[in-house]
Amino acid sequence: MKPIIAPSMLSANFGHLDADIRMVNESTAGWFHLDIMDGVFVPNLSYGFPIVKKIKESAEKPLDVHLMIVQPERYIADFKSAGADILTVHWEACTHLHRTLHAIKNEDMLAGVALNPHTPVAFLEDIITDADMVLIMSVNPGFGGQKFIENSYQKIENLKNLIIKKNSNALIEVDGGVNLETAPRLIKAGADVLVAGYTVFSSKEPIKMIEQLRN
Ligand code: DX5
Ligand code: ZN
Repeated sequence: MKPIIAPSMLSANFGHLDADIRMVNESTAGWFHLDIMDGVFVPNLSYGFPIVKKIKESAEKPLDVHLMIVQPERYIADFKSAGADILTVHWEACTHLHRTLHAIKNEDMLAGVALNPHTPVAFLEDIITDADMVLIMSVNPGFGGQKFIENSYQKIENLKNLIIKKNSNALIEVDGGVNLETAPRLIKAGADVLVAGYTVFSSKEPIKMIEQLRN
């Protein structure tokens, strides 16, 4: 099965956002990946509801929203209204993760949980059947264009084994440092969704790059 490619709009050119949205619409990408940062959970700020709504207006594919914020449960309904189809919260940011994932599902969105590079897959043992997706961070969250952390391959394999063991339907998404060198190994390890920011938007032919990542 070919993976879903989710271009990260963090690396888009906000001076001509419409053109970049159109490019993703016309490509074989499956989703738009939107990174929300609060300057507290991660040492960076990105964008908020106005940009999510703006992308939703022209996007012809689902919006995969990755919340790198503390207390994400406060904003679940707001992200639904802004246009999110998939909402991912960080394991490290949720005291009541079970409640939060079900609150996301109750808003008719797919519920994802993200793990920082230092957080073991084993911590998902008792929540994996409640999640629609697990996002493995293969860089420390906060910035695009960082170097891929090699241990991520092993984490994907561990996660795949846990999903099989628990009979879960969760998708495996990988985020950070995805390029033509890491993508084939990630797919082989079991990744279903590849997020790519720098690799797509720094390419002279982004549509072709998306197709190459997919293959
Ligand atoms: C990082 C974000 C990523 C980022 C990926 O905190 O979650 O989605 O945009 O960037 P690249 O693909 O450039 O490593
Ligand atoms: Zn992301």
